[in-house]
Amino acid sequence: MNQLNELDYGTPAKQSEKSVVLEIDGVSVEVAAGTSVMRAAAEAGINVPKLCATDSLEPFGSCRLCLVEIDGKKGYPASCTTPCESGMKVKTQTPKLADIRRGVMELYISDHPLDCLTCPTNGNCELQDMAGVTGLREVRYGYDGENHLKMKKDESNPYFTYDPSKCIVCNRCVRACEETQGTFALTIDGRGFESRVSAGQMDSFMESECVSCGACVQACPTATLTEKTVIMMGQAEHSKITTCAYCGVGCSLKAEMKGNEVVRMVPHKNGQANHGHACVKGRFAWGYATHKDRITKPMIRSKITDPWREVSWDEALTYAASEFRRIQAKHGKDSIGGITSSRCTNEETYLVQKLVRAAFGNNNVDTCARVCHSPTGYGLKQTLGESAGTQTFDSVMKSDVIMVIGANPVAAHPVFASQMKRRLRQGAKLIVIDPRTTEMVKSPHVQADYHLKLRPGTNVALITALAHVILAEGLQKEDFVAERCDQKSYADWKEFVLRPENSPEMMADIIGVPADQLRGAARLFATAGNGAIYYGLGVTEHAQGSTMVIGIANLAMATGNVGREGVGVNPLRGQNNVQGSCDMGSFPHELPGYRHVSDSTVRGAFEQAWGVTLSPEPGLRIPNMFDAAMDGSFMGLYCEGEDIVQSDPNTQHVTAALAAMECIVVQDLFLNETAKYAHVFLPGSSFLEKDGTFTNAERRISRVRKVMPAKGGKSDWEVTVALSEALGYPMNYQHPSQIMDEIAALTPTFRGVSYAKLEKLGSIQWPCNDAAPDGTPIMHVHQFVRGKGKFINTQYFATDEKVTPKFPLILTTGRILSQYNVGAQTRRTENVEWHSEDRLEIHPHDAEDRGIKEDDWVGIESRAGQTVLRATVTERVQPGVVYTTFHFPESGANVITTDNSDWATNCPEYKVTAVQVMPVSQPSAWQKQFSRFTEQQLKLLQGQAGHAAEAAVTK
Ligand code: SF4
Ligand code: SF4
Ligand code: SF4
Ligand code: FES
Repeated sequence: MNQLNELDYGTPAKQSEKSVVLEIDGVSVEVAAGTSVMRAAAEAGINVPKLCATDSLEPFGSCRLCLVEIDGKKGYPASCTTPCESGMKVKTQTPKLADIRRGVMELYISDHPLDCLTCPTNGNCELQDMAGVTGLREVRYGYDGENHLKMKKDESNPYFTYDPSKCIVCNRCVRACEETQGTFALTIDGRGFESRVSAGQMDSFMESECVSCGACVQACPTATLTEKTVIMMGQAEHSKITTCAYCGVGCSLKAEMKGNEVVRMVPHKNGQANHGHACVKGRFAWGYATHKDRITKPMIRSKITDPWREVSWDEALTYAASEFRRIQAKHGKDSIGGITSSRCTNEETYLVQKLVRAAFGNNNVDTCARVCHSPTGYGLKQTLGESAGTQTFDSVMKSDVIMVIGANPVAAHPVFASQMKRRLRQGAKLIVIDPRTTEMVKSPHVQADYHLKLRPGTNVALITALAHVILAEGLQKEDFVAERCDQKSYADWKEFVLRPENSPEMMADIIGVPADQLRGAARLFATAGNGAIYYGLGVTEHAQGSTMVIGIANLAMATGNVGREGVGVNPLRGQNNVQGSCDMGSFPHELPGYRHVSDSTVRGAFEQAWGVTLSPEPGLRIPNMFDAAMDGSFMGLYCEGEDIVQSDPNTQHVTAALAAMECIVVQDLFLNETAKYAHVFLPGSSFLEKDGTFTNAERRISRVRKVMPAKGGKSDWEVTVALSEALGYPMNYQHPSQIMDEIAALTPTFRGVSYAKLEKLGSIQWPCNDAAPDGTPIMHVHQFVRGKGKFINTQYFATDEKVTPKFPLILTTGRILSQYNVGAQTRRTENVEWHSEDRLEIHPHDAEDRGIKEDDWVGIESRAGQTVLRATVTERVQPGVVYTTFHFPESGANVITTDNSDWATNCPEYKVTAVQVMPVSQPSAWQKQFSRFTEQQLKLLQGQAGHAAEAAVTK
């Protein structure tokens, strides 16, 4: 799929049931009512010259290049701002129009550098194109008068430059920042000839509110805003459509290439999740793929205190396989297991769980979803019948009230946040439930109607209190419940919710939110029309994470907000393929498609296809693997694309468990924190180096396309196939499409998925089968997947993690826009210019009590451990709560998080850790040990042995 240049229709498409018929240059055209003359012409293959119009933005009508003649209308109307009318007769080319357009172009060019041949956008510049189209041959005004040709460039942004000498003040960048991104960072400063684009109060881009999404760069028709990679490398030669490998939005991106090198990433206009938009990560932060830290040769060592030795693929795989078999012979079949990755493709994840079940012969497979959205899987399956979100992202455009719980989409799902903010600017109401004042609460032209700033750990009390108001005031949708839900469970739940102890008045002190605010928010949600709930890890990463997911589903069912556009229960999945890794059978108790391993019919189908007998017993979850390692019964691990040392709670316990194992095989791009405990390193491949599919947070399966050869010689799926072969269980695939064919054959919800269909439709939302051959945008439309929706009581229990005089503050964790998860990728890009360290956010009162000032080093101590970070004193957090991110390994955020976890799924309680915070002057003991260990491991990577290595292992 090579699409370097796409047709620009000039103005956005209009949806209307009515159509109008008009004539343009003698051609009869039928378009939806409200369509501009410019777009109608483009749809008929007639291109009207334009500069200030582009089809991702509402028309502005400033450049006067698109003028046309319309019979019966005076003057020369701008075709971009003129809607079509039935019977109109339009001429786009006349001598007079040609004359006017040449005059307009002459004025533009008289204040534009004539350096086309050395300009970075030479060959891809709309101004240049229009000079050609209008037949401009001379500029009568000369270049001696006043002009902007000497204006200074702003090169502050690491990814793009702003060269005001080339600006034609078309306003496209300003509109892109407002309409597409919703940040409102740009304005046109000055008037008439003096007017110029300005970021904030004439700040540089880096000093302004700009979040570097790049929408303005994409919208700019000239070289004024240009990617630095384009300036450096020139225009691309070919392109392929692929899918972003960062967050769960799953933006479709066009990788524009020169040979095997990426020149730039351009969001794909027809991308069904992102509609031509992206964020600073997907658009710009892809340089990690070619970073010098990439390890591209397989390596082995017998002890983690030995230097690494580069070996051939054959030797590494044979060694790994023989170690796994040796461990099984010594400690039993169940003594090894595997961890799949939510960053890898569906096909790769499927293969890892297949390898564990078929070649290892047990069900010891788990995934990083264990530590993020496993409660979503459990809670939604129990209540609605399917472990996935119910909507498309586009559904939000039909919502009347949006409830965002424990999620900060502006940081973690930025492109969807832009869409949500667009809907909010159109007038939808907003309820934010979060202990912090996130960017969702207040941003330009968006203000939450309610911000319920609850105490961390009290989600379940809050959701039940909201339900109490709705039921007590009769605001529920009894008809919906009667028709769609299980009546007995509803009656039980109703009785439970209506108990006086669940009223806002009784719960307010526990939750930390006044009763009237709880009542107001509940009434708004139940009565405003279409109500949609979006939630994130602030819901799931709790001791009662699964209970809270159930509470959300209860609320949606009771208010009739499931089964159509504009409503629904929408988990904002964090990583690019966390939905897919769960779908693919990464959990120890479930085969692909969420079917329990104890189900003999399901097992039988896999046994027949795979030619093995499968164990009916669920295997070990990640925390159980660590415990088993400590007691000597789990000794070998295959870990693909996941950094459990940095991302799992209670780091000391994790590292002690890894240090106790006999063979750890890590497959990754970099020597990550887990690889420092490994015995075999298999080079992984980035998303640019392989074919496959990702499934985003709306169950949308999209193609990942290989644009460059795998740096280590094998894509990740090929490595798993080779390891399986070495273990004596050959897998025969020549291409990932064959793996998808197997998945489809064995998984009812994927039955209709194939690469050919993905090619045709662009993407597919599962379930995709005979009943829904093109996929299922909205789930539970006529009935719930489980039949009748089931209400489940949500009794609130306070977490065991109590604040005490010794640990008086609650630490909660989260993400930031520019960094991604453990930071392995984004830390190796210029994104560090925005966020180069994890900080501790602390309220001014708590800071003052402790003598802490901005930028001070502070020690954070919990029952699990200690670490040291610099302080940011801010009212974003409430008194009694501190907050940090976890993007840098040396921060040791997970040294302080505890082993507490969700009762149903073991998802760690990252969001509630009781801590004390004090000023300190040096790193913690753990941090010092971490530095020594890292230094030693880097020496061992360079093949250097060292006696100190023995002592530095962080057990
Ligand atoms: S990069 Fe994005 S946020 Fe920054 S000015 Fe451009 S459109 Fe606005
Ligand atoms: S920077 Fe580009 S998009 Fe913005 S006004 Fe100037 S020419 Fe137009
Ligand atoms: S990180 Fe998420 S929002 Fe940003 S480009 Fe990638 S998929 Fe889109
Ligand atoms: S394109 Fe219509 S006025 Fe600029």
